[in-house]
Parts: sequence; structure tokens; C-alpha cells
Amino acid sequence: MTTHPQIHSATSATMGLEGIVAAETVLSHVDGAAGRLIIRGHDLQDLAGWSFEGLIALLWQDLTPEPLAEDQIRAALGAARVQVFALVDPLLAATKSLSPVEALRLLLSALADESDVPHHVLAVAAVPVFAAAIARHRCGQSPVAPDAALGQAADFLRMLRGTPATAEAVRALDTYLVTVADHGLNASTFTARVIASTKAGLFSSVIGALCALKGPLHGGAPGPVLDMLDAIGEESQIRPWLMQKLARGERLMGFGHRIYRVRDPRADVLKGATAHLRHASNWIGFAEKVEAEALTLLAEKKPLRPIQTNVEFYTALVLEAVGFPPDSFTNVFAAGRMAGWTAHVLEQEANNRLIRPQSRYTGPMPAAA
Ligand code: ACO
Repeated sequence: MTTHPQIHSATSATMGLEGIVAAETVLSHVDGAAGRLIIRGHDLQDLAGWSFEGLIALLWQDLTPEPLAEDQIRAALGAARVQVFALVDPLLAATKSLSPVEALRLLLSALADESDVPHHVLAVAAVPVFAAAIARHRCGQSPVAPDAALGQAADFLRMLRGTPATAEAVRALDTYLVTVADHGLNASTFTARVIASTKAGLFSSVIGALCALKGPLHGGAPGPVLDMLDAIGEESQIRPWLMQKLARGERLMGFGHRIYRVRDPRADVLKGATAHLRHASNWIGFAEKVEAEALTLLAEKKPLRPIQTNVEFYTALVLEAVGFPPDSFTNVFAAGRMAGWTAHVLEQEANNRLIRPQSRYTGPMPAAA
């Protein structure tokens, strides 16, 4: 078999496309060596006090037909939440045997390409409406209708609990949604851009992205962090439990990252968000002690490999403290990341070329005649 000269072999260096630049974007940049996440010219730490709508305005800037300011986005999302709520009731029964993320996938599939509301607005508005209704349905509770006057984070929590959320909880959820809104060309964002490049439309692109997020190697729930804290149980058990785990060659949940070689900047931002949530959480004080001990032990046991706290550790603490059940954590992640997915789809559509790489054939050739 002859190899086409323009096709580079899939060596171990390119497996998983690691290190391959597959798109140009103005949206975000992950600097793993320096521990920086830059979103359209801003370090993540400087965006921590922003509302989710403000961050969406930044991401969508110059990509939507008409420029949308933060308050216009807030109003548009509120109206769109009310509109998509009409889809919830007829579909909830069909989610009975599905996991929360499968149920979200099903409900998002009901968004019609013919809709005259801008699709990026509808997609971002839909996730909290659907995710809250799914979480309530799993507890036998009816969905709560959106309140168009509220911001996305406040309404998400109100639709989840049925009562208005505290200002601290809204601020913490806003911080979480901003923190996870975009993160370079991660697997789900790449998926969204590939689908967008076929001109399949925004809804198909973001549903594909959700399917990629669902995998345990990507958006798999930070639920295991809570399981770990639960299993440790009490302060006297922290060091022996962690030592046993490492002695068995097992991983400590919420530590380590493929790209960040220093501390994940998202972990620090979310740690800051827990400061106002201590009264609402059974875990935060205890988790800080577990984190300190884990970092000490990891530095001792793996001196050649810097292993730091990752975003999942504090995600678990923030989302649990504001009232989300652990099995809905992936859907809340999708609520934030939908901002990034929609921006990447708009960016891809604005300067499109079909994304169509090649594979290297390693199967048998037909027998010679
Ligand atoms: N606990 C203990 N040891 C670890 C951990 C950890 N959390 N993470 C890496 N290591 C060790 C490995 O055991 C391995 O040691 P060895 O060389 O002695 O065999 C070494 O570090 C390298 O491991 P890799 O899997 O090659 O490292 P990579 O950087 O690719 O791993 C990953 C990244 C998969 C996230 C890993 O750190 C891990 O499994 N962490 C625990 C699960 C977790 O927290 N996942 C969420 C990640 S954040 C996100 O995806 C949004």
C-alpha cells in the first residue's frame, strides 16, 4: 500500500490529536504551563465577578447579526426561557428511564430549526429550563415556570427549588457558569465546530456537543469528589484514607489535569465562590482539609509530576451548596458551556470550511486479481 504524501501518520504524538491546532479562535486560550485561562483578552480571575449574561455578551461580541449588550441578553434569555418552557410538559414523561443528561439531550432535540428566535439565544435559555424540570421530575415534582424578569442564574435556582434563591447562591452560580463557559478547543467544543462546519445548524451542533460532554472523560460528573469526601467521613481518617488510596495506585478525585501543569485557575475562582457558601454546605471546611492533605501526599508520592487541584473539586462543593443534586452536575456544566458552544458555532459559521480530516488505513488490501 502506498501512503499519500500529504497524510501524516497517526503516531503516538498525534493520537487523540494532542498538540494539533485544529481551529483558530478569538474566544479563549488555555495556557497549561502558566495556569492561565484567557477569554477574549481577559484572565478568568478578572471575570469572576461578572454575571453570566455579561460573559455571554463578551463571547458573542461581533458574532451575532446585531450587537447585544448585557441587559439585552438578559431580557432576550428571559423571554426565550418562557418560550421553551412550553416544550417541557409534553416531553417529560418520555425521560422516565433516562439519566439527567440523556433527558436533557432529548429535550434539546425538540428545538426546531424553523424557530424565529435567534438559535444561540434559544439554546442558552433552554438548558436551565430543561435541567431544572428534569431534576424536579426525578423527585416527583412538577416543573416550575420561568420568570422572565430574573437573570439566568437566579431563575435556574428558582426553577430548581421552587422558591427564590439567596443572593449568595445566585452569585456563586453566576461565578460557576462564567468559570466553565469556555475552555479552548475541548472535545465538546470541537464536536460543535465539526457539526457546524457541515452547515447542520446551531441546534444540531450543540446537541452533538452535549453528547461529547456526557462522556466520563470530559463532563463526567464531579459527583465522585463528593463520594470521596463521604467515604473519608471524618477528619482523623483523612490522611490514612488518602494514603491507602495512593498505595493501591488509585487516583484522588479532583486532582490532576491533562493540560494544566500548575493549579487549574478555575479551581481558584470556584474556591473563592465557596467563601460565601460555608453555612449552606456540610462539606466545604472538611474538603479544604482533604485538599491540603491530598496536595501534601501527592507531592510526596509523585515528586516528578506536579498534580494540583482541578476544577472538578470545587465544582462539586459549589453546586452541592447551592442545591443541585449530584446527578444533575453535568447538566449544570452544559448550562455554562452552552455559552461557549454557541459562540464557537457562530465563529465557525462566520468563516466556514468543512472540517474533514483524513484517516490512515491500516486494514488489509484486496487480494491481487
Ligand atoms: N491521583 C493520584 N495520582 C494521579 C492523579 C490523581 N488524581 N492524577 C495523575 N496521577 C498520576 C498517575 O497515577 C500517574 O502516575 P505514574 O506515572 O506513577 O503512573 C501520573 O500521575 C500521570 O498520570 P496520567 O493519567 O498520564 O496524567 P494526566 O495528566 O494525563 O491525567 C487526569 C489527567 C486524567 C485528569 C488525571 O489527573 C486523573 O485521573 N485525575 C483524577 C480524576 C479527575 O479529577 N478528573 C477531572 C479532571 S478535570 C476535567 O476534566 C474538567
